[in-house]
Amino acid sequence: MKAEKGYIDEEIPAGLDLKAEIARLKKEKNAVVLAHYYTVADIQEVADFIGDSLALAQVAEGLDAPVVVMCGVHFMGETVKILCPEKKVLVPDLNAGCSLADSCPAPELEKFIAEHPGHTVVSYVNTSAAVKALTDVVVTSGNALKIVNALPADEKIIFGPDRNLGNYINSLTGRDMVLWDGACHVHEKFSLDKILELKKIYPEAKVLVHPECPAPIRIVADKVGSTAVLLKWAEESEWREFIVATESGILHEMRRRCPDKVFIPAPPADSTCACNDCAYMKLNSLAKLYLTLKYEEPEVTVAPEIIDRARRPILRMLEMSK
Ligand code: 13P
Ligand code: SF4
Repeated sequence: MKAEKGYIDEEIPAGLDLKAEIARLKKEKNAVVLAHYYTVADIQEVADFIGDSLALAQVAEGLDAPVVVMCGVHFMGETVKILCPEKKVLVPDLNAGCSLADSCPAPELEKFIAEHPGHTVVSYVNTSAAVKALTDVVVTSGNALKIVNALPADEKIIFGPDRNLGNYINSLTGRDMVLWDGACHVHEKFSLDKILELKKIYPEAKVLVHPECPAPIRIVADKVGSTAVLLKWAEESEWREFIVATESGILHEMRRRCPDKVFIPAPPADSTCACNDCAYMKLNSLAKLYLTLKYEEPEVTVAPEIIDRARRPILRMLEMSK
């Protein structure tokens, strides 16, 4: 066991071309590297596929390769393992958690469900495998509206764990879903005042907002959507300047796809730093990815009985998003 700290801590020889080594190891091991848009630019550049949570789950479902490295956070690795239990699923650092997933421990959700009999449980993909095992249908920020709309109008729903996404879906659908009181510490940190100050400097800029942000931030949005939706909107719209209220990793792909457009990160409230970073996503580094491919560690494991129960609501989501 080399990854005792949750990642492999080994000195890398000076001058080693990590990108070339990663390409060599991927080929040698027939491994596929998936990366979320929030990872650092270097990781996005060597990944075989980058995407939002929905796209990453869709890609995982159809993969052929025996080894998959998920550069993102732990629940994303679990989702790949649940969809492909026969594959070796690796993550560069097992410490890459998620404050939103942590806000909803499975035993507490189980009690909450018992207190609300007769409710369908809709869970955001940012949850542990154990929470997914208690869920009727999983959603991502990219398909939550479509899936909730597809459920009968009188169906009673528990939605968790993100209260901001839940409130947003309630406001769009007119439903009264019972919400779990969880949130993402990154998306909760944006400051309306700082966005309004930026609007004074860039009066033409359109504001792009992830639905994990609270209502006062969503109110000033020109577009609310998942990372993939925001990216597509920026790419296809005629506008040239955008203030981006989601994790700063997305700026890399926005600037790559739209080199002539200007993307301004919305800053967090409590810092002088211009960007809002997810420290968990940023635990993924080129060096850790290289070592993970080299030693095939650390591996994501999910108990077989949890895989059996968690798979059904994820497959239901994939089917309902078609
Ligand atoms: P996406 O659904 O846009 O991928 O965002 C989810 C998220 O917060 C990933 O951490
Ligand atoms: Fe979790 Fe928020 Fe980080 Fe996404 S940005 S992984 S929701 S903590």
